Amino acid sequence: MSEAAVATHEEVAGAVDTLVEAMEQRERLHEDPESVLTLGIETSCDETAVAVLAGDHEIRSNIVTSSAHLHERFGGVVPEIASRAQVQAINPAIEEALREADATLWDLSAIAVTVGPGLVGSLVVGVAAAKSLASALDLPLVSVNHLESHLYANLLEHPEASMPAMGLIVSGGHTMLVHMIDHGFYEVVGQTLDDAAGEAFDKVARILGLGFPGGPAIDRAAKDGDPGAVSFPRSLVGDGSDFSFSGVKTAVRRHITEKGELERSEVASLAASFQEAVCEVLAQKTVDAAMEAEVGSVFLSGGVAANTRLRSMLEQACLERDLRLYVPPPILCTDNAAMVAACGFHRFRRGVRTSLDVEPDPNLAL
Ligand code: KG4
Ligand code: ZN
Repeated sequence: MSEAAVATHEEVAGAVDTLVEAMEQRERLHEDPESVLTLGIETSCDETAVAVLAGDHEIRSNIVTSSAHLHERFGGVVPEIASRAQVQAINPAIEEALREADATLWDLSAIAVTVGPGLVGSLVVGVAAAKSLASALDLPLVSVNHLESHLYANLLEHPEASMPAMGLIVSGGHTMLVHMIDHGFYEVVGQTLDDAAGEAFDKVARILGLGFPGGPAIDRAAKDGDPGAVSFPRSLVGDGSDFSFSGVKTAVRRHITEKGELERSEVASLAASFQEAVCEVLAQKTVDAAMEAEVGSVFLSGGVAANTRLRSMLEQACLERDLRLYVPPPILCTDNAAMVAACGFHRFRRGVRTSLDVEPDPNLAL
Protein backbone atom coordinates (compact mmCIF):
# COMPACT_ATOMS: atom_id res chain seq x y z
CA MET A 1 0.00 0.00 0.00
CA SER A 2 1.38 3.44 -0.86
CA GLU A 3 1.97 5.98 1.89
CA ALA A 4 -0.65 8.36 0.49
CA ALA A 5 -3.39 5.77 1.05
CA VAL A 6 -2.75 5.57 4.80
CA ALA A 7 -4.87 8.00 6.81
CA THR A 8 -3.57 9.41 10.04
CA HIS A 9 -5.39 8.83 13.31
CA GLU A 10 -6.60 12.47 13.26
CA GLU A 11 -7.89 12.17 9.71
CA VAL A 12 -9.89 9.04 10.56
CA ALA A 13 -11.29 10.70 13.70
CA GLY A 14 -12.22 13.79 11.63
CA ALA A 15 -14.00 11.67 9.02
CA VAL A 16 -15.93 9.80 11.72
CA ASP A 17 -16.99 13.10 13.33
CA THR A 18 -18.28 14.38 9.98
CA LEU A 19 -20.20 11.15 9.46
CA VAL A 20 -21.75 11.26 12.93
CA GLU A 21 -22.70 14.90 12.46
CA ALA A 22 -24.38 14.12 9.13
CA MET A 23 -26.27 11.23 10.71
CA GLU A 24 -27.45 13.34 13.64
CA GLN A 25 -28.62 16.03 11.26
CA ARG A 26 -30.45 13.36 9.28
CA GLU A 27 -32.19 12.07 12.43
CA ARG A 28 -33.33 15.60 13.36
CA LEU A 29 -34.61 16.29 9.88
CA HIS A 30 -36.58 13.08 9.71
CA GLU A 31 -38.70 13.82 12.71
CA ASP A 32 -40.60 16.10 10.35
CA PRO A 33 -42.43 13.94 7.74
CA GLU A 34 -42.27 16.72 5.11
CA SER A 35 -38.48 16.55 5.13
CA VAL A 36 -38.28 12.79 4.61
CA LEU A 37 -36.67 12.16 1.22
CA THR A 38 -37.44 8.68 -0.10
CA LEU A 39 -35.57 7.18 -3.05
CA GLY A 40 -37.90 4.78 -4.90
CA ILE A 41 -36.57 2.04 -7.19
CA GLU A 42 -38.81 0.04 -9.54
CA THR A 43 -37.46 -2.70 -11.82
CA SER A 44 -40.19 -5.36 -11.87
CA CYS A 45 -40.50 -5.68 -15.65
CA ASP A 46 -39.14 -3.69 -18.61
CA GLU A 47 -39.08 -0.24 -16.97
CA THR A 48 -36.08 0.97 -14.98
CA ALA A 49 -37.51 3.68 -12.77
CA VAL A 50 -36.04 5.79 -9.99
CA ALA A 51 -37.74 8.66 -8.14
CA VAL A 52 -37.08 11.03 -5.28
CA LEU A 53 -40.13 11.86 -3.16
CA ALA A 54 -40.30 14.53 -0.44
CA GLY A 55 -42.83 13.74 2.28
CA ASP A 56 -45.82 11.74 1.12
CA HIS A 57 -46.54 13.29 -2.28
CA GLU A 58 -44.05 15.90 -3.50
CA ILE A 59 -42.36 14.32 -6.51
CA ARG A 60 -38.87 15.85 -6.82
CA SER A 61 -37.93 13.58 -9.72
CA ASN A 62 -39.48 10.61 -11.52
CA ILE A 63 -37.15 8.97 -14.05
CA VAL A 64 -38.59 6.17 -16.19
CA THR A 65 -36.59 4.42 -18.90
CA SER A 66 -37.93 1.41 -20.75
CA SER A 67 -36.57 -1.45 -22.83
CA ALA A 68 -39.96 -1.83 -24.60
CA HIS A 69 -38.37 -1.00 -27.99
CA LEU A 70 -36.10 -4.07 -27.64
CA HIS A 71 -39.13 -6.36 -27.10
CA GLU A 72 -41.29 -4.89 -29.85
CA ARG A 73 -40.41 -7.43 -32.53
CA PHE A 74 -41.15 -10.32 -30.16
CA GLY A 75 -44.64 -8.96 -29.36
CA GLY A 76 -44.04 -9.25 -25.60
CA VAL A 77 -41.38 -8.75 -22.92
CA VAL A 78 -38.41 -11.15 -23.20
CA PRO A 79 -37.16 -11.66 -19.59
CA GLU A 80 -33.44 -12.09 -20.44
CA ILE A 81 -33.39 -8.94 -22.56
CA ALA A 82 -35.29 -7.00 -19.87
CA SER A 83 -32.85 -8.11 -17.17
CA ARG A 84 -29.79 -7.11 -19.20
CA ALA A 85 -31.32 -3.71 -19.97
CA GLN A 86 -32.01 -3.20 -16.24
CA VAL A 87 -28.31 -3.73 -15.45
CA GLN A 88 -27.29 -1.08 -17.99
CA ALA A 89 -29.94 1.44 -16.96
CA ILE A 90 -30.05 1.32 -13.17
CA ASN A 91 -27.02 3.42 -12.18
CA PRO A 92 -27.60 6.21 -14.72
CA ALA A 93 -31.27 6.32 -13.61
CA ILE A 94 -30.27 6.71 -9.93
CA GLU A 95 -27.81 9.47 -10.84
CA GLU A 96 -30.37 11.27 -12.99
CA ALA A 97 -33.10 11.04 -10.34
CA LEU A 98 -30.79 12.60 -7.74
CA ARG A 99 -29.57 15.29 -10.15
CA GLU A 100 -33.10 16.27 -11.13
CA ALA A 101 -34.17 16.36 -7.48
CA ASP A 102 -31.13 18.51 -6.70
CA ALA A 103 -30.21 16.04 -3.96
CA THR A 104 -27.21 13.96 -2.99
CA LEU A 105 -27.15 10.44 -1.59
CA TRP A 106 -26.55 12.00 1.83
CA ASP A 107 -29.84 13.88 1.72
CA LEU A 108 -31.88 10.67 1.51
CA SER A 109 -33.86 9.29 4.45
CA ALA A 110 -34.90 5.86 3.17
CA ILE A 111 -34.63 3.54 0.18
CA ALA A 112 -37.86 1.95 -1.06
CA VAL A 113 -37.67 -0.85 -3.60
CA THR A 114 -40.07 -3.18 -5.42
CA VAL A 115 -39.32 -6.76 -4.34
CA GLY A 116 -42.18 -8.42 -6.28
CA PRO A 117 -44.26 -9.57 -8.02
CA GLY A 118 -42.47 -9.39 -11.36
CA LEU A 119 -39.71 -10.92 -13.47
CA VAL A 120 -37.00 -12.26 -11.18
CA GLY A 121 -34.12 -11.21 -13.46
CA SER A 122 -35.43 -7.64 -13.49
CA LEU A 123 -36.39 -7.43 -9.81
CA VAL A 124 -32.96 -8.63 -8.69
CA VAL A 125 -31.26 -5.61 -10.28
CA GLY A 126 -33.31 -3.04 -8.38
CA VAL A 127 -33.15 -5.01 -5.14
CA ALA A 128 -29.35 -5.32 -5.36
CA ALA A 129 -28.99 -1.58 -6.05
CA ALA A 130 -31.29 -0.69 -3.14
CA LYS A 131 -29.49 -3.02 -0.73
CA SER A 132 -26.09 -1.61 -1.75
CA LEU A 133 -27.25 1.97 -1.18
CA ALA A 134 -28.96 1.19 2.14
CA SER A 135 -25.87 -0.62 3.36
CA ALA A 136 -23.28 1.92 2.20
CA LEU A 137 -25.27 4.94 3.44
CA ASP A 138 -26.60 3.25 6.57
CA LEU A 139 -30.16 4.06 5.48
CA PRO A 140 -33.36 2.15 6.25
CA LEU A 141 -34.45 -0.20 3.46
CA VAL A 142 -38.20 -0.59 2.86
CA SER A 143 -39.51 -3.38 0.62
CA VAL A 144 -42.54 -2.60 -1.52
CA ASN A 145 -45.12 -4.82 -3.20
CA HIS A 146 -45.53 -3.69 -6.82
CA LEU A 147 -49.32 -4.12 -6.74
CA GLU A 148 -49.72 -2.13 -3.54
CA SER A 149 -47.54 0.62 -5.03
CA HIS A 150 -49.87 0.95 -8.05
CA LEU A 151 -52.69 1.82 -5.61
CA TYR A 152 -50.47 4.50 -4.02
CA ALA A 153 -50.22 6.37 -7.34
CA ASN A 154 -53.64 7.72 -6.34
CA LEU A 155 -52.33 9.13 -3.07
CA LEU A 156 -49.55 10.98 -4.91
CA GLU A 157 -52.11 12.84 -6.97
CA HIS A 158 -54.78 13.04 -4.24
CA PRO A 159 -53.07 12.98 -0.82
CA GLU A 160 -56.45 13.75 0.75
CA ALA A 161 -58.00 10.48 -0.55
CA SER A 162 -58.86 8.23 2.33
CA MET A 163 -59.61 4.57 2.96
CA PRO A 164 -61.67 2.42 3.09
CA ALA A 165 -61.88 2.35 -0.71
CA MET A 166 -62.26 -0.14 -3.55
CA GLY A 167 -59.07 -0.40 -5.61
CA LEU A 168 -59.02 -1.69 -9.19
CA ILE A 169 -55.52 -2.72 -10.31
CA VAL A 170 -55.41 -3.29 -14.06
CA SER A 171 -51.95 -3.93 -15.48
CA GLY A 172 -50.11 -6.17 -17.90
CA GLY A 173 -49.81 -8.93 -15.33
CA HIS A 174 -52.77 -8.39 -13.00
CA THR A 175 -56.45 -7.55 -12.85
CA MET A 176 -57.61 -7.30 -9.30
CA LEU A 177 -60.29 -5.74 -7.11
CA VAL A 178 -58.92 -4.85 -3.71
CA HIS A 179 -60.93 -3.76 -0.70
CA MET A 180 -58.51 -1.25 0.84
CA ILE A 181 -59.49 -1.23 4.49
CA ASP A 182 -56.58 0.93 5.62
CA HIS A 183 -52.87 1.43 4.77
CA GLY A 184 -51.37 -2.07 4.71
CA PHE A 185 -54.72 -3.84 5.22
CA TYR A 186 -56.16 -5.23 2.03
CA GLU A 187 -58.60 -7.90 1.00
CA VAL A 188 -58.52 -9.15 -2.59
CA VAL A 189 -62.19 -9.53 -3.52
CA GLY A 190 -61.78 -10.50 -7.17
CA GLN A 191 -59.20 -11.25 -9.84
CA THR A 192 -58.82 -12.58 -13.35
CA LEU A 193 -59.23 -16.29 -13.88
CA ASP A 194 -57.13 -16.21 -17.07
CA ASP A 195 -55.59 -13.22 -18.95
CA ALA A 196 -54.92 -9.89 -17.23
CA ALA A 197 -56.71 -6.93 -18.87
CA GLY A 198 -53.42 -5.44 -20.14
CA GLU A 199 -52.35 -8.83 -21.49
CA ALA A 200 -55.64 -9.03 -23.44
CA PHE A 201 -55.00 -5.51 -24.85
CA ASP A 202 -51.46 -6.53 -25.87
CA LYS A 203 -52.58 -9.81 -27.49
CA VAL A 204 -55.49 -8.26 -29.39
CA ALA A 205 -53.22 -5.43 -30.60
CA ARG A 206 -50.85 -8.06 -31.96
CA ILE A 207 -53.73 -9.86 -33.75
CA LEU A 208 -54.80 -6.50 -35.24
CA GLY A 209 -51.20 -5.66 -36.25
CA LEU A 210 -51.11 -2.57 -34.03
CA GLY A 211 -47.72 -3.22 -32.37
CA PHE A 212 -46.44 -3.43 -28.79
CA PRO A 213 -47.29 -2.33 -26.12
CA GLY A 214 -50.82 -2.89 -27.33
CA GLY A 215 -52.86 -0.93 -24.79
CA PRO A 216 -51.90 2.57 -25.94
CA ALA A 217 -52.10 1.44 -29.61
CA ILE A 218 -55.68 0.16 -29.19
CA ASP A 219 -56.64 3.27 -27.22
CA ARG A 220 -55.38 5.44 -30.13
CA ALA A 221 -56.85 3.31 -32.94
CA ALA A 222 -60.24 3.06 -31.19
CA LYS A 223 -60.74 6.83 -31.39
CA ASP A 224 -61.46 6.49 -35.14
CA GLY A 225 -63.64 3.39 -34.76
CA ASP A 226 -67.23 2.50 -33.93
CA PRO A 227 -67.47 0.82 -30.50
CA GLY A 228 -70.83 -0.67 -31.47
CA ALA A 229 -69.56 -2.26 -34.72
CA VAL A 230 -69.16 -5.75 -33.22
CA SER A 231 -70.79 -6.91 -30.01
CA PHE A 232 -68.00 -8.91 -28.36
CA PRO A 233 -68.90 -11.03 -25.29
CA ARG A 234 -68.94 -9.38 -21.85
CA SER A 235 -67.73 -12.03 -19.48
CA LEU A 236 -69.35 -11.47 -16.12
CA VAL A 237 -68.28 -14.93 -14.72
CA GLY A 238 -71.26 -15.68 -12.50
CA ASP A 239 -71.66 -11.96 -11.76
CA GLY A 240 -69.10 -12.23 -8.92
CA SER A 241 -66.01 -10.03 -8.70
CA ASP A 242 -63.73 -12.29 -10.75
CA PHE A 243 -62.79 -11.49 -14.35
CA SER A 244 -62.12 -13.45 -17.53
CA PHE A 245 -60.71 -11.88 -20.70
CA SER A 246 -59.61 -14.88 -22.76
CA GLY A 247 -63.12 -15.25 -24.28
CA VAL A 248 -63.22 -11.76 -25.76
CA LYS A 249 -59.68 -12.18 -27.10
CA THR A 250 -60.65 -15.45 -28.81
CA ALA A 251 -63.79 -13.80 -30.21
CA VAL A 252 -61.67 -11.06 -31.83
CA ARG A 253 -59.34 -13.69 -33.31
CA ARG A 254 -62.28 -15.70 -34.68
CA HIS A 255 -63.86 -12.59 -36.17
CA ILE A 256 -60.64 -11.70 -38.00
CA THR A 257 -60.15 -15.23 -39.32
CA GLU A 258 -63.67 -15.16 -40.74
CA LYS A 259 -63.32 -11.68 -42.29
CA GLY A 260 -59.84 -12.11 -43.80
CA GLU A 261 -58.07 -8.93 -44.95
CA LEU A 262 -59.14 -5.85 -42.95
CA GLU A 263 -59.39 -2.21 -43.98
CA ARG A 264 -57.93 0.45 -41.69
CA SER A 265 -61.41 1.59 -40.63
CA GLU A 266 -62.38 -2.00 -39.78
CA VAL A 267 -59.27 -2.38 -37.57
CA ALA A 268 -60.27 0.83 -35.76
CA SER A 269 -63.82 -0.44 -35.20
CA LEU A 270 -62.59 -3.82 -33.96
CA ALA A 271 -60.20 -2.07 -31.55
CA ALA A 272 -63.05 0.16 -30.32
CA SER A 273 -65.48 -2.77 -29.96
CA PHE A 274 -62.93 -4.86 -28.03
CA GLN A 275 -62.04 -1.92 -25.78
CA GLU A 276 -65.74 -1.27 -25.12
CA ALA A 277 -66.35 -4.89 -24.04
CA VAL A 278 -63.35 -4.98 -21.66
CA CYS A 279 -63.92 -1.54 -20.13
CA GLU A 280 -67.63 -2.14 -19.60
CA VAL A 281 -66.93 -5.26 -17.51
CA LEU A 282 -64.15 -3.54 -15.55
CA ALA A 283 -66.31 -0.51 -14.75
CA GLN A 284 -69.42 -2.46 -13.84
CA LYS A 285 -67.65 -4.95 -11.58
CA THR A 286 -65.70 -2.19 -9.83
CA VAL A 287 -68.75 -0.15 -8.85
CA ASP A 288 -70.64 -3.33 -7.87
CA ALA A 289 -67.75 -4.36 -5.59
CA ALA A 290 -67.57 -0.86 -4.08
CA MET A 291 -71.31 -0.95 -3.26
CA GLU A 292 -71.00 -4.47 -1.86
CA ALA A 293 -68.09 -3.42 0.42
CA GLU A 294 -69.98 -0.25 1.38
CA VAL A 295 -67.07 2.08 0.62
CA GLY A 296 -67.43 5.65 -0.64
CA SER A 297 -64.59 5.77 -3.15
CA VAL A 298 -62.74 3.95 -5.92
CA PHE A 299 -58.97 4.00 -6.62
CA LEU A 300 -58.15 3.19 -10.26
CA SER A 301 -54.56 2.08 -10.94
CA GLY A 302 -52.16 0.11 -13.16
CA GLY A 303 -51.09 0.60 -16.79
CA VAL A 304 -54.57 -0.01 -18.22
CA ALA A 305 -55.87 2.81 -15.98
CA ALA A 306 -54.27 5.11 -18.59
CA ASN A 307 -56.99 3.96 -21.03
CA THR A 308 -59.16 6.94 -21.96
CA ARG A 309 -62.36 4.89 -22.44
CA LEU A 310 -61.96 3.08 -19.10
CA ARG A 311 -61.45 6.41 -17.34
CA SER A 312 -64.58 7.99 -18.83
CA MET A 313 -66.71 4.86 -18.36
CA LEU A 314 -65.70 4.43 -14.73
CA GLU A 315 -66.27 8.13 -14.12
CA GLN A 316 -69.85 7.81 -15.35
CA ALA A 317 -70.48 4.56 -13.40
CA CYS A 318 -69.15 6.14 -10.17
CA LEU A 319 -71.24 9.25 -10.71
CA GLU A 320 -74.40 7.15 -11.03
CA ARG A 321 -73.67 5.35 -7.73
CA ASP A 322 -72.50 8.45 -5.87
CA LEU A 323 -68.94 7.09 -5.54
CA ARG A 324 -65.85 9.30 -5.50
CA LEU A 325 -63.36 8.22 -8.20
CA TYR A 326 -59.60 8.77 -7.89
CA VAL A 327 -57.49 8.35 -11.03
CA PRO A 328 -53.74 9.01 -11.33
CA PRO A 329 -52.39 10.93 -14.34
CA PRO A 330 -51.31 8.51 -17.13
CA ILE A 331 -47.57 8.83 -16.26
CA LEU A 332 -48.31 7.51 -12.75
CA CYS A 333 -50.57 4.69 -14.06
CA THR A 334 -47.84 2.80 -15.91
CA ASP A 335 -44.83 1.49 -13.99
CA ASN A 336 -42.90 4.24 -12.21
CA ALA A 337 -40.87 4.70 -9.04
CA ALA A 338 -42.74 7.69 -7.57
CA MET A 339 -45.54 5.28 -6.59
CA VAL A 340 -42.94 2.93 -5.06
CA ALA A 341 -41.47 5.80 -3.03
CA ALA A 342 -44.99 6.84 -1.91
CA CYS A 343 -45.87 3.35 -0.77
CA GLY A 344 -42.43 3.00 0.84
CA PHE A 345 -42.83 6.33 2.64
CA HIS A 346 -46.07 5.20 4.29
CA ARG A 347 -44.49 1.89 5.29
CA PHE A 348 -41.40 3.71 6.61
CA ARG A 349 -43.58 6.00 8.73
CA ARG A 350 -45.37 2.93 10.12
CA GLY A 351 -41.99 1.60 11.23
CA VAL A 352 -41.46 -1.03 8.53
CA ARG A 353 -37.75 -1.82 8.05
CA THR A 354 -36.55 -4.52 5.67
CA SER A 355 -33.54 -6.69 6.34
CA LEU A 356 -30.56 -6.38 3.98
CA ASP A 357 -30.85 -10.09 3.18
CA VAL A 358 -34.24 -9.61 1.48
CA GLU A 359 -34.57 -11.48 -1.85
CA PRO A 360 -36.87 -10.65 -4.78
CA ASP A 361 -40.11 -12.62 -4.78
CA PRO A 362 -41.50 -12.96 -8.34
CA ASN A 363 -44.84 -14.30 -7.02
CA LEU A 364 -45.32 -11.96 -4.08
CA ALA A 365 -49.02 -11.73 -3.19
CA LEU A 366 -50.78 -8.58 -2.06
O1 KG4 B 1 -48.68 -1.35 -14.87
P1 KG4 B 1 -47.93 -1.58 -16.12
O2 KG4 B 1 -47.11 -0.44 -16.67
O3 KG4 B 1 -46.97 -2.80 -15.99
C1 KG4 B 1 -47.33 -3.96 -15.30
O4 KG4 B 1 -47.20 -3.96 -14.04
O5 KG4 B 1 -47.81 -4.87 -15.98
O6 KG4 B 1 -49.00 -2.04 -17.21
C2 KG4 B 1 -48.64 -2.33 -18.52
C3 KG4 B 1 -49.90 -2.67 -19.30
C4 KG4 B 1 -49.61 -3.15 -20.70
O7 KG4 B 1 -50.35 -4.33 -20.94
C5 KG4 B 1 -50.11 -2.00 -21.58
O8 KG4 B 1 -50.58 -2.42 -22.85
C6 KG4 B 1 -51.23 -1.46 -20.73
O9 KG4 B 1 -50.74 -1.50 -19.41
N1 KG4 B 1 -51.58 -0.06 -21.08
C7 KG4 B 1 -52.78 0.30 -21.58
C8 KG4 B 1 -52.71 1.68 -21.86
N2 KG4 B 1 -51.46 2.12 -21.50
C9 KG4 B 1 -50.79 1.04 -21.02
N3 KG4 B 1 -53.89 -0.44 -21.81
C10 KG4 B 1 -54.96 0.20 -22.35
N4 KG4 B 1 -54.96 1.50 -22.66
C11 KG4 B 1 -53.87 2.29 -22.44
N5 KG4 B 1 -53.89 3.59 -22.76
ZN1 ZN C 1 -47.18 -2.45 -12.88
